[in-house]
Amino acid sequence: MQRPKIVDINGPVVKACGMSGYKVRDMVVVGEKKLIGEIISVFEDIATIQVYEETQGLKVGEEIISTNVPLSVTLGPGIIGNIFDGIQRPLEQIYNMTGDFINEGIGLISIDKEKLWDTEILVKQGDFLNEGEIFAKVKETSFIDHKVMVPPTISGEVIDVLPSGKYNLETKVLTLKDEDGKIHELKLYHTWPVRVQRPVKKRMQISKPLITGQRVLDVFFPLAKGGTSALPGGFGTGKTMTQHQLAKWSDADIIVYIGCGERGNEMTDVLEQFPKLIDPRTGKPLMERTVLIANTSNMPVAAREASIYTGITIAEYYRDMGYHVAIMADSTSRWAEALREISGRLEEMPAEEGYPAYLPSRIAQFYERAGYVKTLSNKEGSITVIGAVSPPGGDFSEPVTENTKRFVSAFIGLDKNLAYIRHYPAVNYLTSYSGYTSLIKEYYDENISPDLLRLRDKMMKLLSEDAKLNQIVQLVGEDVLPNDQRLVLEIAKVLKKGFLQQNAMHKIDSYVPLKKQFEMLKVINNLYDYSNSAVKEQIALIKIKNDDLFEEVIKMKYNIPNEDYIQYFEKLNLKIKQYYDALIKEAKENRVIENE
Ligand SMILES: Nc1ncnc2c1ncn2[C@@H]1O[C@H](COP(=O)(O)OP(=O)(O)O)[C@@H](O)[C@H]1O
Ligand SMILES: [Mg+2]
Repeated sequence: MQRPKIVDINGPVVKACGMSGYKVRDMVVVGEKKLIGEIISVFEDIATIQVYEETQGLKVGEEIISTNVPLSVTLGPGIIGNIFDGIQRPLEQIYNMTGDFINEGIGLISIDKEKLWDTEILVKQGDFLNEGEIFAKVKETSFIDHKVMVPPTISGEVIDVLPSGKYNLETKVLTLKDEDGKIHELKLYHTWPVRVQRPVKKRMQISKPLITGQRVLDVFFPLAKGGTSALPGGFGTGKTMTQHQLAKWSDADIIVYIGCGERGNEMTDVLEQFPKLIDPRTGKPLMERTVLIANTSNMPVAAREASIYTGITIAEYYRDMGYHVAIMADSTSRWAEALREISGRLEEMPAEEGYPAYLPSRIAQFYERAGYVKTLSNKEGSITVIGAVSPPGGDFSEPVTENTKRFVSAFIGLDKNLAYIRHYPAVNYLTSYSGYTSLIKEYYDENISPDLLRLRDKMMKLLSEDAKLNQIVQLVGEDVLPNDQRLVLEIAKVLKKGFLQQNAMHKIDSYVPLKKQFEMLKVINNLYDYSNSAVKEQIALIKIKNDDLFEEVIKMKYNIPNEDYIQYFEKLNLKIKQYYDALIKEAKENRVIENE
């Protein structure tokens, strides 16, 4: 038989002959440099391959070798804290490698297979292990227990098992005999094809919030554990900043952060900042719960297409251990552009704006892998997906934004006008929505207070009233408005500046506990109610809108600490009450005098 050889090279897309009998989706090693690729189609004996590495220097006639397995990731201890490229190769090691080593097939490396891990074996000979059952425990970081699982496709009786001890990933710690009598030797890792969803026992109803410490999200547009959300916004509206904030502060157990096709220096920011950050919940370095996948704009485009799947497969693996995982992809638009570029080189029929016709189904497949589940080992785990979308020119009516909108339940739109006036996070509070508000209501009611969402609704109404009034003001000026409506404008300003705007760069403001968010909301509500009763007493607005008092409320986000804050809120609420009580008392006394 003819050996497979390259016949055509078109950027990351390579055609090879002699490939009859090869399977679509199998991983192949391409050319003398042993580049990693994936078969995307086979027609007669010609296969089309997308190559995950730079194809420069590759020549027609060079050989192709199939690995006979689909593009897969290696799942075992050593993933957390690591930085991978789009096909799970550790970036640091790649940079440190010599050219010689690359010839030996750099494509096959992923996590460290030599490192010894303290392994606690949890099963004994004679036990029957089901698919996905946990058989060992490894302390992966100071607070993440890595639960080593039987691969989801295997089950059987333990016929041999090592005692607890120090093992590396390649150690055969366990031997299973399945019901057909077939023997399976299990190590501390297994591999899994990235394009195949890992199975779960059951999908469950979403009911718990993903608390982010970002007020506009937690209170107004909550995310949920197991939920899907999109973060669309034009250039400079704060998508990356918001994703970073979520990666830093959200109350997930594990974070998978995919830097996908954005500028390399943004990933450098992550690499510089994250190792220094401390998790407010555990007091431990945030990198001890974080996995970074970097496929920046200067890296091969096909690996960018794969990076999304690599990331979500890793997320599923940790979910299967019973963790709550949040995955951020910045940006899914760059991923869609990679799809488009490859599709173009394949000469597929383009659909809307040159994207392939399968764009919607690919987007759906990605978001579908989110969810709150009962795992094969009967634990609760979840994957929350937060995808940044960067529509060209900030125009949301383009295919990637529109299709994403169809498949996510929370749509957090970033607005260039808000970004322009430095209202950050520039979340458009009029057009954004979260379908999770009603699902997490019970949690908020029980853990914070039923008043939280009640106040939220009241403030939402205030904001839409404010928007309507502002249109009138633009036409005819503020003077025509009655005082109660002018007060709406003033309180909305306080809400926007003092609550919705949140400075990611400020030590206190960057992250705010949900209970404190509620206290802040109550202060603003108090200010509204008291000042409103003063309006009803016909008191002049200039007195009601006391600049010092209003300013103190706006500045509470910078001045009230994130711990032991109750006393500060009590003082501030008392001050508001005393100010308006005095004002109203004075007004009443004056009226009595006038009447006399
Ligand atoms: N929450 C925030 N707090 C303070 N500044 C912010 C915030 N969000 C965005 N910014 C500002 O906006 C700039 C652009 O944000 P970035 O996330 O890079 O935008 P995008 O990724 O949408 O292009 C940041 O460099 C920062 O100065
Ligand atoms: Mg960005």
